[in-house]
Amino acid sequence: MDFSQAKSSFLNLVNSLNNDVRSDFLSWCKEYFSSESSSCKTYFDLRTIAEDIKILVPQNAVLPTEQINHSKMDDQAPVIHVDSFLFEDDHIDAMVDEGKLSRNYCKQCGSTNVAPITFISHSASIPRIQFIFKCMLPDLNGKTVLDVGSRLGAILYGAYYCSSASKIIGVEMNQDLCKLQNHIVSKYGLNDRIQVICNNICGLPEVVQASDVIIFNNVFECFMDIESQQNIWKWLRNHITKPGTILVTVPSIEDTLNSLETGIDVSTWLRKVSIEDIENVLMDDEDTLHEIFSYIVI
Ligand SMILES: C[S@@+](CC[C@H](N)C(=O)[O-])C[C@H]1O[C@@H](n2cnc3c(N)ncnc32)[C@H](O)[C@@H]1O
Repeated sequence: MDFSQAKSSFLNLVNSLNNDVRSDFLSWCKEYFSSESSSCKTYFDLRTIAEDIKILVPQNAVLPTEQINHSKMDDQAPVIHVDSFLFEDDHIDAMVDEGKLSRNYCKQCGSTNVAPITFISHSASIPRIQFIFKCMLPDLNGKTVLDVGSRLGAILYGAYYCSSASKIIGVEMNQDLCKLQNHIVSKYGLNDRIQVICNNICGLPEVVQASDVIIFNNVFECFMDIESQQNIWKWLRNHITKPGTILVTVPSIEDTLNSLETGIDVSTWLRKVSIEDIENVLMDDEDTLHEIFSYIVI
């Protein structure tokens, strides 16, 4: 459905309502789409940006200047990049139904011996972003949020619309991704609180030390070799030392460090925030909750 078809379907729907229902329906739309505090408002702010980015990047949202390595994954199945910020689950289902995307590959061409394809996303989805900023984190007024490896900027825009963080910093080592984030930040007028820095995180000790919340969403796994990951985590251990700093990670730090020999003792560095300590959790959030971890520097 294109824009003019969507507009005309909406108007047809409005015109098909009885007079008394129409007025209630339009008041509800107004409230639903414009209330500053509603999740729906932040959803539409983020969805609009995602739709804008979709036309600026290839369908898999991987830029030609990137080198992505999945060798850590045990599975031999083919991998497809489907960015969860740009494409929601319903949209992926629709693409599968339309034959534009397959969930399975043929293990032996021409046979019915098929296996699932592994879908990988390199961005946080809108539900994950809303969960982090609306449920997991405390009020961020006066605080600085840092997203390590900010990529398309999904977390940065989420922090802008879903929190009152005073300063939101994205550090990204790929220059083309930084240009893309800066384009969106300036197009939507987000530069009063968002700053994008193009660098390797290890070149920015002062930024790391000044941050109150630091987000690591699958940041290094597919983008750095094992030795670099070991060095980065040792560097982070030495620089994230301000007591009270909150880390939000996917996967857990324990899982990440288990596969790297860093010698870091998490128990003397961080206190894990238990699920019971997180307020406002809805049943719908449960799947998301088991994938995201939060820690406080002790
Ligand atoms: C999985 S993406 C994270 C996306 C984003 N934080 C989100 O949640 O939507 C990881 C990004 O980190 C960047 N990256 C990896 N290692 C980095 C490093 N050492 N310094 C800065 N950026 C890095 C990669 O280029 C990639 O774009």
